[in-house]
Amino acid sequence: MAEIVIVPDAATAGGLVADEIVRLVRARPDAVLGLATGSTPLPVYEALRPRLAGIDVSRVRGFALDEYVGIAADHPESYRSVIHREVVEPLGLDPALVRVPDGSLDGIEHAGDDYERAIEAAGGVDLQILGVGTDGHIGFNEPGSSFGSLTRVKTLTEQTREDNARFFDSVDDVPRHCITQGLGTILRARHLVLLAFGSGKAAAVAGAVEGPVTASLPGSAIQLHPHVTVVVDEAAAAQL
Ligand code: GLP
Repeated sequence: MAEIVIVPDAATAGGLVADEIVRLVRARPDAVLGLATGSTPLPVYEALRPRLAGIDVSRVRGFALDEYVGIAADHPESYRSVIHREVVEPLGLDPALVRVPDGSLDGIEHAGDDYERAIEAAGGVDLQILGVGTDGHIGFNEPGSSFGSLTRVKTLTEQTREDNARFFDSVDDVPRHCITQGLGTILRARHLVLLAFGSGKAAAVAGAVEGPVTASLPGSAIQLHPHVTVVVDEAAAAQL
């Protein structure tokens, strides 16, 4: 059973999760962080900045969950750019130690296997930050994803493309494909921390935390994991 923490607002959630990450980095200076994109984890990254000041982060490693396929790596909305802008630069991490799946078309056929090997070589992820899509996806594992899946190329649903259109000029500019850690990859992390804010996430949160464990709601895979913390505001907790 996941530990559920209901907080008044996203900033409080960010502080709580940042505190946990600081404890981890103090105990293990080469900790492996599982990083997520989207708007949900931003309060965590913001809260980490002052908390990590004065702590040696030069050995901290990171792996992002996912990336779009078919946009240039230096596009401002590629997840490589987002992770560098929101996490690596402000927190002063070593860019060489923070990886994002490679979504460039050249070599895409082995990008998933390469990523899995890199995570394994790092000894696995210590703490994985997760947001959740309105349709219950985690990473970019859309409904129907296998619980054993590893990093691979997937097609984005129209719902997710519409949800993410706000980051692009129009929905037509949102890529149609992505490369994402699988649910099997995510379940190997030693601690999962799922965050969600706002009423739009209430159904996905309820399904993930206490609905049937089903590929129709990929977030429900977290129920198979022994160490999960769910941090939500009251609106996102409304259907629990
Ligand atoms: C994207 C990301 C997910 C994220 C989800 C929710 O599709 N690939 O990792 O959890 O959207 O986004 P947001 O946090 O902006 O609501």
